[in-house]
Amino acid sequence: MSSCCLTQKELLEIYGKDACQCPSPNKNMSLVFSQTKPFDLIELEQLLQSVGWSQRPMSKVRIALENSLLKVGLWRHDPAFPRLIGFARCTGDGVLEATIWDVAINPIYQGVGLGKLLMNYVNQSLRDIGVTRITLFADPGVVAFYLSQGWVLEPKGNRCAFWYAN
Ligand SMILES: CC(C)(COP(=O)(O)OP(=O)(O)OC[C@H]1O[C@@H](n2cnc3c(N)ncnc32)[C@H](O)[C@@H]1OP(=O)(O)O)[C@@H](O)C(=O)NCCC(=O)NCCS
Repeated sequence: MSSCCLTQKELLEIYGKDACQCPSPNKNMSLVFSQTKPFDLIELEQLLQSVGWSQRPMSKVRIALENSLLKVGLWRHDPAFPRLIGFARCTGDGVLEATIWDVAINPIYQGVGLGKLLMNYVNQSLRDIGVTRITLFADPGVVAFYLSQGWVLEPKGNRCAFWYAN
């Protein structure tokens, strides 16, 4: 079977019962969103480093994932070797508030709409569990990415306080 085709059985068995196909910009490539397929932490860190972020201690990343409300992998389907090409996770109380972190699309796959699809998927997943107040911290270079999708900047920029305990 060609690696681009994805059967319902594969979707379930490889990516988990919550998995769903993501519209693909290329007919030779199947893409899947999953919230339950376990991450290989090395592959995840490689993805996050590919977008320029610095390495974090694996032991802390593992706990951060365990403690996250939602973690979404965007996988390029291959029956033998699915590849993680996008990621986002959320923390929160599960009912009122959530914050989105670590939104990344592998640079090779950027610029074809996948970041937007990933954000739509994350927002919808949060709404599905009843969370309606969603926040995120945007790097300066990507503020326009979020604004174009309907996010609003913190009003007047004067209501946010930070404490870095290090
Ligand atoms: C930000 C990121 C997730 C966007 O993913 P992507 O797949 O390239 O984005 P898309 O192709 O879905 O772009 C959707 C729209 O946003 C625009 N866009 C994408 N990146 C943008 C940016 N950095 N600034 C402004 N607009 C941007 C696109 O032009 C596109 O516009 P259109 O709908 O008018 O065509 C990706 O560039 C990335 O992983 N960056 C590095 C990590 C990062 O900065 N993450 C965010 C941390 S806050």
